[in-house]
Amino acid sequence: MNNVWMVASGKGGTGKSSLVVNLGAALAMEGLRVVVVDLSVGLRCLDLCLGLDDRVLFDLIDVLSGNCRPRDAILKHSTIEKLWLLPAAQNRSMDEITEKSLDALCRQLAEQFDMVLLDCPPGLEPIPQRASAVAGRAILVTTTEATAIRDTERLVTEFTAKGLTDLYLVVNRYCSEHLKSNLIPSETEIADSVGIPLLGTIPEDEAVTLATLRCEPMLIRQPSTPAGRVFTALARRLPGKDFL
Ligand SMILES: Nc1ncnc2c1ncn2[C@@H]1O[C@H](COP(=O)(O)OP(=O)(O)OP(=O)(O)O)[C@@H](O)[C@H]1O
Ligand SMILES: [Mg+2]
Repeated sequence: MNNVWMVASGKGGTGKSSLVVNLGAALAMEGLRVVVVDLSVGLRCLDLCLGLDDRVLFDLIDVLSGNCRPRDAILKHSTIEKLWLLPAAQNRSMDEITEKSLDALCRQLAEQFDMVLLDCPPGLEPIPQRASAVAGRAILVTTTEATAIRDTERLVTEFTAKGLTDLYLVVNRYCSEHLKSNLIPSETEIADSVGIPLLGTIPEDEAVTLATLRCEPMLIRQPSTPAGRVFTALARRLPGKDFL
């Protein structure tokens, strides 16, 4: 399932959900049919990030447990054509997501959409582990902090051991002033130490935070900010996209 991408990180708060929302929006604006799937069971967030929270009726667990069909739970974004969300469940347990049921769902979504983006909770808890057995490719999101980089190295080891080898790195919240002051390694040094190809570097950009506060992808109002341009560029050069 080469069009099923999981987005993961070792450390929490590195910017996975922001990446899923904005890369998903950028891919949809490029003309691809994109579904983003919120795997943060119990702590759902993508419905808020996309301004769809008041429309959630069914969720991922309803779909996986056969309570409803995927199309009953999947919500279409209000302004971005070709962008859809499968929301997470708020009051359910992650034990309800098995590798088998997630695999079956992703196979179905991979047929119906051009791109499936799985937004994982952080760390090596069961959900990212199960997603890594299902996804064809992964984006690992790190910031420039030493703890986040070290946790990313750990994830690479774990995922590679499980057979998921198509891994790409995104360095988020990059600050060139910090680089000049020798406070952080460069993005290429980070990619070298993590040992996977660098897909892109997203600068620290207040527009990302503002979009989070407004509950919308930043590409709606601020496509030309530094981070906005990176999301568009990432969508244009995402590996495998040209074969769709
Ligand atoms: N490049 C950036 N510049 C400025 N702020 C950013 C950037 N990327 C993310 N943020 C902000 O960082 C916060 C955390 O981002 P986000 O929720 O995407 O992280 P996460 O990895 O999904 O977190 P969790 O591990 O809890 O799921 C948000 O407030 C978001 O707006
Ligand atoms: Mg998140």
